[in-house]
Parts: sequence; structure tokens; C-alpha cells
Amino acid sequence: MAQLVDAQITLGLPAALAPTADSTSGPSTEYRSSKAETQESTLNQTFKYWKLRFSLFSRFDEGIMLDEASMYSVCPEVLAQHIAKRCTSFGTVLDPFCGAGGNVIQLALICDHVIAIDLDPKKIALAKKNAEVYGVAHRIDFRVGNSFSVATNLRVDAVVTSPPWGGPGYERRAKFDARDLCGRDTGGMAAIIRMARAVAPRVVLHVPKNIDKDQCLQIAMDEGFSQIQYESVSIDKKPNCLNLYLTRNDTHTRGIPVQSTKLLQLDNPSLNRQQKMERLRTENKFMYKTYLNKVARFFEKNHL
Ligand SMILES: C[S@@+](CC[C@H](N)C(=O)[O-])C[C@H]1O[C@@H](n2cnc3c(N)ncnc32)[C@H](O)[C@@H]1O
Repeated sequence: MAQLVDAQITLGLPAALAPTADSTSGPSTEYRSSKAETQESTLNQTFKYWKLRFSLFSRFDEGIMLDEASMYSVCPEVLAQHIAKRCTSFGTVLDPFCGAGGNVIQLALICDHVIAIDLDPKKIALAKKNAEVYGVAHRIDFRVGNSFSVATNLRVDAVVTSPPWGGPGYERRAKFDARDLCGRDTGGMAAIIRMARAVAPRVVLHVPKNIDKDQCLQIAMDEGFSQIQYESVSIDKKPNCLNLYLTRNDTHTRGIPVQSTKLLQLDNPSLNRQQKMERLRTENKFMYKTYLNKVARFFEKNHL
């Protein structure tokens, strides 16, 4: 019989949303101008995440590199720290959808060893760079590849991940269908936890706030998890996401310690003076564009 625990968590920070694939189509004059317009309009759309950058990484101004998609895909630091703390006792942890490193960096600060996989070599380059800023790159084994094939030979203590939600538009749906996590063609949430289950006895999933919770619980039970716990997470008192903590039923493994507190308020450390000054100085679209150009040069330099 599955064990269900509902914990309501309130953190002090804004949301991370979800990724979209980068477009890398070839150039034509017409395409270039429409691409320029698109870049301008996506820049306008993602500018709000630039303003929140210190909540994504408190050490942002020490050299953190994020492309536009990562601006809204990264797990905010306070949430990544919270999830990592649940994993304190685990030796080796895998993030099969590591993105720019929000989760893996916090896991590496706590666990002995972390394996980080992403399909996109650019995301792996960003994650490595960001892990260097936090001094944990040497504790993370970075791999480029499709996790559904690359991860299956691994054996770790836990899989901890934030799979793709399909872009910021996920919020407009009344209910997010769990089959759409990482795209329906991949097999959705069932395929993700089946892959994770083969690799580890415990799985932590960070999923959209509007996901169909009953569907998630049913999928987890169908995939052979007996301890199924979840946290409805609020950030700045606004509903933000759902964290699922799953433990396999075919092992005597100790589950993931989740407090069944109804309301847990975590305080986000406020910005220090230097960060406040830096934010004031750079809180405009010109500085954001300049930053994105720096990231583009970083990719070029690394032949990405
Ligand atoms: C939501 S982002 C992860 C964000 C990350 N947790 C962070 O805090 O920075 C999801 C990532 O999954 C990657 N991805 C999508 N499909 C994948 C697959 N089949 N195998 C490996 N990575 C994949 C995307 O490239 C994207 O970077």
C-alpha cells in the first residue's frame, strides 16, 4: 500500500519555469530578420527572469552563465537547496536532466558524488562553468547524452531531477498532464520514473504546480513505488511547484526523509549590499543583452 504524505512548503523566492529546446536552424536573409525579431521578443519575455537572477544563483555576479532558456528553466537556489537537504545521506546522486546546473550544484555541495546528464552540450557547458563558480565542478561527472539510453547502465543512491515542463506556457493550462513531462513522445512521467527506477531505489521529481497530482500518484504506484510523498511548494506565498519523493517497493531502502509539516516557511537570505548595487546597475535590457552576448561568445569559444 502506498504511503501518501502531503506537505505544504513555503519558500521565499520566485519560480523557475521550464525549458524549451534551442532553435538552431540555418540562416536566410528573411529568416535572419525574423530571427532577430524573435530574439528581441524572447528577450523582452525573458527579461523578467534576468531581474530575478540572484534568486536563481545567489553568486550570479561571480560568473554564472545562463542562456535565455536556462533563465526560466533553472531551479531557484532556495528550492534546489531545500531538495538537496532531503538527500543529505545519499552517496551518489544522478540528475538525468541537469540543464544549467541549478540542482546538481546544490546536490554536489551535500552529497559525495553527482552525475549530471543533459542532451544539450550547451547546457552541460553552462552547468560545468556554474559548478566552477560554486567550487564543486570536481565532484560532478558531466555527461552529454539522452538519459533514456545513457542512464540505464548507472546505479546510484537516488535520482533527483527537474524534467522538462515544455516552456513557460505550462502555466496557462488548467491541469498539466503528467504524460507531457519531457514531451509525450518520450513516454512522459511514466517513462522518466521507469528510467529512474532502473537506476536508483529513490527518485525525487520537481514538477509543475498544476500537474494532475492523482495521475502522478497513480503512475508512481503503477511503476512500483510504495512510499510516495509529495510537497506542494509555495514561493513568496504563491503556489510554485510539486516535489515528488518516491521510494521503490522492492527494496528495504530507507525512504527519503520528508517532514509532513503542513506549512514550512523557509526564509530566503536577502541580497547583500554589493548584490543590491549590482542589480541596480544592471537592471535594464541593454545590460541583459550584453550579458546574453557574453554567453553567446562563451558558446562560440567552446565550439558549441
Ligand atoms: C528543466 S531543465 C533542467 C533545469 C535544471 N534542474 C537546473 O536547475 O538548471 C531540463 C533539461 O532537460 C534536458 N533534456 C531534455 N530531454 C532530455 C533527455 N532525453 N536526456 C537528457 N536531457 C534532456 C534539456 O536540455 C534541459 O536542459
